[in-house]
Amino acid sequence: MFKKIMAAFDGSQHSEIAVDTACQLAKALNAELHVFNAPHIIEDTVIVGYSTVPIQPTKERVEAECDEIRKKVKAITGKYEGLEPEFHFAAGNPGNMIVGEAKEAEIDLIVLGRRGLGQFTGLLVGSTTTRVSQLAECAVLTVK
Ligand SMILES: Nc1ncnc2c1ncn2[C@@H]1O[C@H](COP(=O)(O)OP(=O)(O)OP(=O)(O)O)[C@@H](O)[C@H]1O
Ligand SMILES: [Mg+2]
Repeated sequence: MFKKIMAAFDGSQHSEIAVDTACQLAKALNAELHVFNAPHIIEDTVIVGYSTVPIQPTKERVEAECDEIRKKVKAITGKYEGLEPEFHFAAGNPGNMIVGEAKEAEIDLIVLGRRGLGQFTGLLVGSTTTRVSQLAECAVLTVK
């Protein structure tokens, strides 16, 4: 059965359920638990005269936010004895990054929420989940 399970966590309630479900499956199947987050980096720009100067967030600032993600995830995984998640962070389009990272880490099941932090409440399934379902080379489980 599944030996390496990866939950995709974006901080939303849906993704909390995805992590919890991945924990239960990992415990039941004695599988490795991986958790992935794609930080969404938006560059700011300062305009000086005719020049535009991009301002990148500092590495320290991004790392501090990743620590917050680790804390939130561990609040869930901590309920399951002996389960220590391996974290993956990679900035970019979340769907593409999840699929790429899962392939690299030889994940055999990806668990996602049906929706995430997006605001378009009319959509039943978010764009990340749709993309991962279409492109992943392994099994995909969507939770509600
Ligand atoms: N940046 C991310 N990093 C890790 N997982 C993510 C990320 N964004 C989304 N996911 C995963 O995908 C699930 C569904 O989120 P998705 O982005 O598809 O929906 P949405 O945010 O409601 O809609 P959209 O982003 O299309 O406006 C989340 O519950 C989470 O499991
Ligand atoms: Mg989203």
